[in-house]
Amino acid sequence: MRTIKRFGVSLEEELFNELDAIVKKHKFPNRSQAIRFLIRKNTAEEAYEENKEVSGAVVIIYDHHRRELVNKSLDIQHEFTNIILASQHVHLSHHSCLEIIALKGKASNLKALADKLIALKGVKHGKLVVTSA
Ligand code: NI
Repeated sequence: MRTIKRFGVSLEEELFNELDAIVKKHKFPNRSQAIRFLIRKNTAEEAYEENKEVSGAVVIIYDHHRRELVNKSLDIQHEFTNIILASQHVHLSHHSCLEIIALKGKASNLKALADKLIALKGVKHGKLVVTSA
């Protein structure tokens, strides 16, 4: 079982109010849950900035009718097989496809793959989400 440590925190009123605003915005049940969230968010952001091993996903939405885009996307993905864990293709509508590519590896490699995919002509929107490995 995980040990829970308790500690007192002193905050200026302004910061205290900001913490409560975070609790309210994210609907956390209490301030402890908000602090857990902020610590993990910071850990994930620093892992990304320091080019450590991270996990994440790139999501792209593209035009189904641009066949050359699908081929280019697959070529790019074959260059990054060392970081791609899985991918899923969803036919959103008659025109649009959604692709979710799950990743794990060095932050710079995840960014390189995401940048290449998102820059493809015909991609309407794309985003890389990164969390700690
Ligand atoms: Ni499709």
